[in-house]
Amino acid sequence: MKLTITTALLASAMAFFASPNEVSAAPLSTLDVWDPTITSPVTGTVWVIGTEVNVTWSTDNIPPDGVSNGGHIYLAKEEDAIISLSSNFDLVAANGSFTVTVPDVVPDNDYQIVLFGDSGNIGPSFTIVAPTS
Ligand SMILES: *[C@@H]1O[C@H](CO)[C@@H](O)[C@H](O)[C@H]1NC(C)=O
Ligand SMILES: *[C@@H]1O[C@H](CO)[C@@H](O)[C@H](O)[C@H]1NC(C)=O
Repeated sequence: MKLTITTALLASAMAFFASPNEVSAAPLSTLDVWDPTITSPVTGTVWVIGTEVNVTWSTDNIPPDGVSNGGHIYLAKEEDAIISLSSNFDLVAANGSFTVTVPDVVPDNDYQIVLFGDSGNIGPSFTIVAPTS
């Protein structure tokens, strides 16, 4: 599997498939594209390498007609998805929360989570730190 994905490229590809006349990568807002808002991690969140954490998102606006059930979570840095944190999972059945293990990355304060469902959604920057012994 290819782990390095340019999220901007994916976003434009998705915008293209959803609406071929649109050239921008602006957020999609059609009824059958569900773009769940990431509610954790958010600004101020600190993840410790090697621990289990939950990625959570809002389930308020799941379209009534359902969505394709494939979800996938990536860790991103500088808006590039760098590491896959999950296998493909059922986004609807997950019901707004998915547990991941914080990968062994260089500690920094500009990591982001990308949640892919029907559309890709990137969360705010948060911090990953090394475990203290
Ligand atoms: C993650 O969610 C599960 C299930 O709701 C919960 O049992 C667990 O305590 C949560 N973990 C953290 C780190 O919040
Ligand atoms: C989804 O999560 C909400 C909030 O945690 C809970 O109230 C609800 O029962 C859950 N629904 C399902 C189908 O598990």
